Amino acid sequence: MKCHVIPAPKGIDSLALVDRPDPAPGPRQVLVRVRASSLNYRDLITVEGNYARAAPKPDLIPLSDGAGEVVAVGTGVTRFKPGDRVAGCFMQRWPGGAIDDAAIASAMGGAIDGMLAELAVLEEDGTVHLPKHLSFEQGAALPCAAVTAWHALVEIGGVKAGDVVLVQGSGGVSIFALQFARLFGARVIATSGAKAKAERLKAMGAEAVIDYRTTPDWDQEVAKLTGGRGVDITVEVGGAGTLPRSFLATRIGGRIAVIGLLTGPGAQVDPMPILRRNLGVQGLYVGNRQMFEAMNRAIEAHRLEPVIDKVFPFAAAKDAYRHMKSQQHFGKVVIAHG
Ligand SMILES: NC(=O)c1ccc[n+]([C@@H]2O[C@H](COP(=O)([O-])OP(=O)(O)OC[C@H]3O[C@@H](n4cnc5c(N)ncnc54)[C@H](OP(=O)(O)O)[C@@H]3O)[C@@H](O)[C@H]2O)c1
Repeated sequence: MKCHVIPAPKGIDSLALVDRPDPAPGPRQVLVRVRASSLNYRDLITVEGNYARAAPKPDLIPLSDGAGEVVAVGTGVTRFKPGDRVAGCFMQRWPGGAIDDAAIASAMGGAIDGMLAELAVLEEDGTVHLPKHLSFEQGAALPCAAVTAWHALVEIGGVKAGDVVLVQGSGGVSIFALQFARLFGARVIATSGAKAKAERLKAMGAEAVIDYRTTPDWDQEVAKLTGGRGVDITVEVGGAGTLPRSFLATRIGGRIAVIGLLTGPGAQVDPMPILRRNLGVQGLYVGNRQMFEAMNRAIEAHRLEPVIDKVFPFAAAKDAYRHMKSQQHFGKVVIAHG
């Protein structure tokens, strides 16, 4: 099979297209012909050698996210058969419950090989059926960004109709968070540094979009928009550069799901606003298979469609990474495997 690998993570040009022997499924594993994959911010910092969790394994096949069809199953597999349309879970060994070291050690496109390949072997317990109405390209958008947004809003935020949700920027996680918040009947305030994207966020149901470049004290704007109360749930993807303002933009007793580091890692955190405002601040790492399945049921029931910015051919994977790096995208950057 053909696959892209990262012999040493020194930038996008270190990606190499190589031939590897076709893999075969072991017991309780499925072999998937990957039809599409998608990129996340993590994939960019992985190829650039800046992923903080751990150095990727040598000759890593990158990308956590992919969808395709089952072509063979190993012994003992009961949930899948050849022909099924599936996606892999970000963590291959986290079917449910609380996260643990074994789950973290099974993260695709980092700790273990990922989906930027023609074929992939997945754990039966780390695989889900795709929502019926989605294409492979749309399905490939789900495993990291969508499950993360679902975890933040539903599991951590306990979102309900009438809540106000703050989403930051127009990347993969934030757009899914906007879509899910609307699906639950919540109101959405978004931030964005791009005017044209702000219009698109409004068209998707954000009732206000604040430009974080021209309004650096956007937390005050959020306070005004919510009558001084603040939002119920903040989907925090900015990290060090946004967290202090997220504390102030979130209502007393509100919840903040700490997800990302778009403004870079490392900062001193002042605990006072957390204490004074009685905030619930919870970090998260994507989500488990049960969350993925619950999310897929909601996606199917509401015929929700992931927002795909651009689809690149398999051979042009490097261009997909460059597009992601440019931050011109709105939603997901996808690779079609043919
Ligand atoms: N903890 C987890 O399990 C987990 C899972 C998924 C992602 N993440 C993290 O979450 C973050 C987002 O991931 P992603 O894949 O959705 O990224 P992405 O698609 O690359 O998002 C990029 C977008 O973020 C926005 N942005 C950049 N700087 C910003 C700022 N200072 N304030 C607000 N928005 C800003 C920009 O939108 P505009 O152009 O509209 O401004 C940009 O286009 C990353 O740090 C990623 O590592 C963590």
